[in-house]
Amino acid sequence: MKTTISVIKADIGSLAGHHVVHPDTMAAASKVLAEAKAQGVLIDYYITHVGDDLQLIMTHNRGELDPKVHETAWNAFKKAAEVARDLGLYAAGQDLLSDSFSGNVRGLGPGVAEMEIEERVSEPIAIFMADKTEPGAFNLPLYKMFADPFNTPGLVIDPTMHNGFKFEVLDVYEGEAVTLTAPQELYDLLALIGTPARYVIRRIYRNDDNLLASVVAIERLNLIAGKYVGKDDPVTIVRLQHGLPALGEALEAFTFPHLVPGWMRGSHYGPLMPVSQRDARATRFDGPPRLIGLGFNVKNGKLVGPSDLFDDPAFDESRRLASVIADYMRRHGPFMPHRLEPTEMEYTTLPLIQEKLKPRFKKESDMYKTKESVYTKGKSAGESQD
Ligand code: 13P
Ligand code: 13P
Ligand code: MG
Ligand code: MG
Ligand code: MG
Repeated sequence: MKTTISVIKADIGSLAGHHVVHPDTMAAASKVLAEAKAQGVLIDYYITHVGDDLQLIMTHNRGELDPKVHETAWNAFKKAAEVARDLGLYAAGQDLLSDSFSGNVRGLGPGVAEMEIEERVSEPIAIFMADKTEPGAFNLPLYKMFADPFNTPGLVIDPTMHNGFKFEVLDVYEGEAVTLTAPQELYDLLALIGTPARYVIRRIYRNDDNLLASVVAIERLNLIAGKYVGKDDPVTIVRLQHGLPALGEALEAFTFPHLVPGWMRGSHYGPLMPVSQRDARATRFDGPPRLIGLGFNVKNGKLVGPSDLFDDPAFDESRRLASVIADYMRRHGPFMPHRLEPTEMEYTTLPLIQEKLKPRFKKESDMYKTKESVYTKGKSAGESQD
């Protein structure tokens, strides 16, 4: 029988700002999942958090997008949000964008990463969960894990990985996906995923046999809501070993704290810092963007584990580098490229300020008695030469 791993997450309110999930809200969600397990809807579950995001890790035999499993998650979030309201937690119910549930949680606010798999004899997985960033933040590390032999020597050494992997890439603006094969189409792949705000890796398959190796929660909250309602704070599930990246190859991809969009008010680039569960709290400038990793084995749907993967001095230097980068980026204050580019700021409250200033703009030609502005001439000047 196939096993489905469903990671469904939402920010239902948090303590002292966008900081950390309150344990009472986790307990409320836990009660709902325990009931679903007793009723046989779930085989197993594990509840955790990264920063202000409540994470429901669930296993079952019901397949992806199952109404019953999604309803269970939705009810768990609702109950947790009630507790958040009672406690006066900040932004209670933040990611629950709809009042009613309809079939599954896609488009209602929560993030979803699900995979239905045929369990291997041993099925090691890692679940990576981030706060204060968006789904494209996983583009670079997933590329490294599944396509870069400098990160993953298994791509060179292991005959069962040697034919590479294919990447399903979603254009989140158009709602269209393309599948590109590595290493054959590596440069095409990079041409897209190098723009992570638009092109997001959604699924990765092994070329040899189409084995599903990784899934990413691709929900972009601002595109669903049409305005800024908090950051997406994505998750990814990665299957490991035996013809897939080794655990250590998956973790190696996060040693470089690359710059990701998010952080304060979802409006700034900052380094993705791998931390232990204990340090999974957003603090400095509401961050820096945090990543936790939990390792499990899945056996007959049971979640064996977890191991807290970044709770390790081997990542101290990555964290230190992330802190140095955080200092460097912060010193730009409200200037780009610390602050996001205008297209990404469209969904924030910045346009209100720009709108207010609009009537105060005067034509340059009126101010300086020139015929036309030298800056608008180029508009019809034709194609760029590079
Ligand atoms: P072990 O001998 O510890 O099982 O290591 C195998 C391996 O390939 C580690 O990457
Ligand atoms: P969250 O999406 O984690 O709630 O972040 C919101 C925010 O604006 C942090 O500054
Ligand atoms: Mg929040
Ligand atoms: Mg969050
Ligand atoms: Mg969020």
